[in-house]
Amino acid sequence: MIYLDSAATTFRKPQAVRSAVLRAMQTMSSPGRGGYPSARAAEETMFRCRSLAAEMFGVPDAERVVFTTCATHGLNIAIKSLVPPGGRAIVSGFEHNAVTRPLHALGAETVVAASPLFDDGACVHAFANALRRGADAVICTAASNVFGYALPVAEIARLCRRAGVPLIVDASQSAGILPLDMSALGAAFVAMPGHKGLYGPQGTGLLLCGSEAQPLLEGGTGSESLNQEMPAFLPDRLEAGTHNMPGIAGLEAGLRFVKNTTPERIARHERALIRRASEGLAHLGGVTAYAAEEPMRQLGVLSFTVRGREPEELAEELARRGVAVRAGYHCAPLAHRSAGTLEQGTVRVSVSAFEQAADIDGFLRTMRGILAK
Ligand code: ALA
Repeated sequence: MIYLDSAATTFRKPQAVRSAVLRAMQTMSSPGRGGYPSARAAEETMFRCRSLAAEMFGVPDAERVVFTTCATHGLNIAIKSLVPPGGRAIVSGFEHNAVTRPLHALGAETVVAASPLFDDGACVHAFANALRRGADAVICTAASNVFGYALPVAEIARLCRRAGVPLIVDASQSAGILPLDMSALGAAFVAMPGHKGLYGPQGTGLLLCGSEAQPLLEGGTGSESLNQEMPAFLPDRLEAGTHNMPGIAGLEAGLRFVKNTTPERIARHERALIRRASEGLAHLGGVTAYAAEEPMRQLGVLSFTVRGREPEELAEELARRGVAVRAGYHCAPLAHRSAGTLEQGTVRVSVSAFEQAADIDGFLRTMRGILAK
């Protein structure tokens, strides 16, 4: 199979991640629940993973790194901590349903700082305008899961600091690829999955907390058991229930892989593959590929459409021929509205550190075969 759906999850993982998951299952019990060796091994692994994430993402205190089940989980905590029912939030025009659905559920006024695809100037201008009326929070994705557009988050963070409005960054598509310094951004929260650019297992995620947070779940934490309130301190406040130790051990190995490979090298590799794909698609009749003129504005995600063909039907044909892609709206209708692709959606190819030029060439060959039919 040619796997080009890493924006959904990086399916190919480093061997060290698989080994760490297995080792955790063989050697770790529940962290913070006992002083015996398997509980201590779990506690130490959890601490190492938190500390490594804190170091990599500019979090001054490892306890402000909270384990979640996915980015959606972290975004729900962040949004519900800052936006009251009926409150006002400003979002970019490229947000995922993981942002817009919680806001909808809160009955919040959601102001879209709309801007065209790959247009940083328009994006910053739209946020500056929307911030004139203030808001309970700004929520912005660092990179679109549909188009790979890397939004000007540093500029948006500067506008938020100046306006005194807390910022939530959705780093789902950028963590492990773009540099991220929570302290420099001054963000209230940064949410990310563990299973995409951090190469951890599915069922893992991180929420970096720069602000007071409200729990989404109440339950046992292994601390302050006589108190019926959730502990006031992090990470316990947000981590009720038994931890996913195989996931956390795998995530630690994934973080080490990213640190050693370096996000810069991963980004360079992914951009080169996406450029190869978009240049190849440009030679096929009837194809529109949504590629940034300025390559630095795009990560390893590329959407395209083919005149007269339904994206889902094309993706199914690719799957029948051994190429895995995702088609449709990618849980992000707002991004499709911004890019003008809301009518049909797109076909999306996306890569990780493990895909190679040969994968892109195989995909392009398959596309030529399908279009020639
Ligand atoms: N949000 C993930 C995607 O884009 C699942 O496919």
